[in-house]
Amino acid sequence: MTTDEMIIRLKATLKERRFNHTLGVASEARRLAPRFGVDVEKAYIAGLLHDCAKNFTPEQVEDYCKRYGVALDPYSRKEPALIHAFLGATVARTDYGVDDPEILSAIYYHTTGKPDMTPMEKLIYIADLTEPGRDRDPGRSPEVSEKLKSLVESDIDEALIYAIGYSLSYVLKKGNLIHPDSIFARNYLIENRRKKLD
Ligand SMILES: [Fe+2]
Ligand SMILES: [Fe+2]
Repeated sequence: MTTDEMIIRLKATLKERRFNHTLGVASEARRLAPRFGVDVEKAYIAGLLHDCAKNFTPEQVEDYCKRYGVALDPYSRKEPALIHAFLGATVARTDYGVDDPEILSAIYYHTTGKPDMTPMEKLIYIADLTEPGRDRDPGRSPEVSEKLKSLVESDIDEALIYAIGYSLSYVLKKGNLIHPDSIFARNYLIENRRKKLD
């Protein structure tokens, strides 16, 4: 499937706000790709598809999980916001014909993160937060994007620590469950930072 065909399908599947966010993340991922040392075209595709399962109904979620044997962990079962990332990797493969593991894992981990993330996983995690449309999120100050953008220029892992901290504070504010992978992702980065300073 070409990226133009992907965009047509995404437009038909996603709500308008989500579709616009998707285009924003794809452009942002493409722009930042050289900084992360990843392939520009792959970054664009990962950005386009990262939220491809976001507006699925509970019935669609159930159907895809059954049909493709997607096993959701206990946290995703209890926290629907997490499902779209884990399921999105499957949908990117089955509905959009993407079989590149680098792209699929970036989609899979774009909400939780994980320890020892690949450059593509880091890129999509950050681009999801820095695309310009996110500045309109309720309660979000534009400084968040500015801070992330400047950290990306100086130190990608510091940008990621900040990004994960921002996401965790959002989850805490909403009173939602925290996926342990987010904690492990942050701990991994903090330990690495300490090793670098030793
Ligand atoms: Fe997402
Ligand atoms: Fe997103």
